[in-house]
Amino acid sequence: MDLKLPSHVAIIMDGNGRWARARNLPRVAGHYEGVKSAESVVRLSRELGIKYLTLFAFSTENWKRPREEINALFELLEGYLKEKKEELYELEVRLRFIGRRDRLPQSLVKLMETIEAESDKFNRLVLNLAVDYGGRDDIVRAVNKALTEGKKKLKEEDFSAYLDLASCPDPDLLIRTAGERRISNFLLWNLAYTELYFTETLWPDFREEEFTNALRDYSSRERKFGGILNE
Ligand code: FPP
Repeated sequence: MDLKLPSHVAIIMDGNGRWARARNLPRVAGHYEGVKSAESVVRLSRELGIKYLTLFAFSTENWKRPREEINALFELLEGYLKEKKEELYELEVRLRFIGRRDRLPQSLVKLMETIEAESDKFNRLVLNLAVDYGGRDDIVRAVNKALTEGKKKLKEEDFSAYLDLASCPDPDLLIRTAGERRISNFLLWNLAYTELYFTETLWPDFREEEFTNALRDYSSRERKFGGILNE
């Protein structure tokens, strides 16, 4: 594939519930199918040489969902990570988690910490999973960290270093599935110059072909970062 590839792709994986409803299945069945799409995007990113992939798995607003769905999502995530972590290490994927940790189940937090420590030697692909993540919350936590350190004044670059994605370049491409055209409190600071790609496809149907379409679209964009194109 002769494409200009993004180095960092962020994805809002939307439409699992609608996918399930269209098949008269419980919503959680949509989430299970959505995990397979996440896996396919991870594999293709790695094969193509994309260096960073950030997936929005659970937002600070998702706590408004029914308790059973929240529990099912955490069980799914924990079960998946336990089952697949070795496979991800074999693929040399470094896993990192962004978001708050103080409201998540203890067992999940422990697993997240273990996986971060065990995978920090890999660098084929950095996979950031956003769990209890909100862009505003990220910014407020960053401000508070800086204040705690006694900082009085910061430059943009110094401030970025306090955010959850401190060690990653900003996303080049943001993909959102299922027809919604919003940022929904995802990486507010980091998305300042990111190219946006929206598709009607529901997340469980977003597999290699759809991902390739998004990458092809990105490849055709001219990025100016507020400047002008060099002729
Ligand atoms: C959006 O669909 C999806 C979510 C809120 C959860 C996404 C989580 C996963 C796919 C699991 C991720 C797990 C791993 C291991 C990466 P929705 O429920 O908002 O769908 P709807 O808008 O159609 O109701």
